[in-house]
Amino acid sequence: MTLINRRRFLVASGALAAGAHFPALAQSAPLKIATIGAGNIGGGVGSLWVKAGHEVFFSSLNPAELKPMVDALGPKARAGTTAQAIPNGDIILLAVPYRAIPSVAKEFAEALKGKIIIDTCNATAARDGEELVALTKQKGIGLATASFFPGARMVRGFNSIGARILQEQAHRAGDRLPIPIASDDVAAADIVARLVRDAGFEPVMAGPLARAADFSMGTAGYGVHPNAAALKKVLGV
Ligand SMILES: NC(=O)c1ccc[n+]([C@@H]2O[C@H](COP(=O)([O-])OP(=O)(O)OC[C@H]3O[C@@H](n4cnc5c(N)ncnc54)[C@H](OP(=O)(O)O)[C@@H]3O)[C@@H](O)[C@H]2O)c1
Repeated sequence: MTLINRRRFLVASGALAAGAHFPALAQSAPLKIATIGAGNIGGGVGSLWVKAGHEVFFSSLNPAELKPMVDALGPKARAGTTAQAIPNGDIILLAVPYRAIPSVAKEFAEALKGKIIIDTCNATAARDGEELVALTKQKGIGLATASFFPGARMVRGFNSIGARILQEQAHRAGDRLPIPIASDDVAAADIVARLVRDAGFEPVMAGPLARAADFSMGTAGYGVHPNAAALKKVLGV
């Protein structure tokens, strides 16, 4: 962690730890989560949280298609439009193709102010276009996504491991699969760390949001690592 990043992290965490917006969220009560996107990642990770006892409101462009999934998950799962989902989530799992982020932000950034957003989205030129990929490289992907959602409590996580592996290895025996997270907001990161555990994995705090670049696609921090100690070594934390 550079000195500047460390300072930024400490300043942000101190400010937010003092005035946590969601005191109830840090306890063990079920959380209210909304997903924006309910495909491989939004549907998959959201389902793990429903099974852990949380309430999850899934949203997508075609929410009627989500009915079989939420019916199978039971009463703690609901589905609807993104406009319906956001008021039903204190925590938002953002799981859309990166190219959708500008339009999601245009429509919903205001409604997302003050909410914890877990940013799972990766950018590839083929799917999302050169311009967005360049932005993520220039700013670092965590800060790039955050720039679309001013005032949201951004946490980067669940971006670095394939959706199928997450389903197969949740709650595995032995050392749990480690998941790196990064945020400038320590209180929000603590809540997301709990959600990583509840989904059946081991959270590894990489540091401030800028450090999301160290577990973005193509880096050593991306992908499967055998356990938290091994991932910490790669991330230097
Ligand atoms: N798949 C993986 O293994 C994996 C792993 C880590 C990270 N990621 C990242 O996670 C993100 C999601 O990937 P995925 O594999 O879950 O994609 P996916 O299966 O294609 O699902 C994308 C979801 O986003 C919804 N969506 C698209 N545009 C939207 C908008 N403007 N507003 C609301 N919802 C919208 C889609 O709705 P409809 O279905 O109704 O069109 C769909 O539910 C991507 O950024 C990806 O890079 C993926």
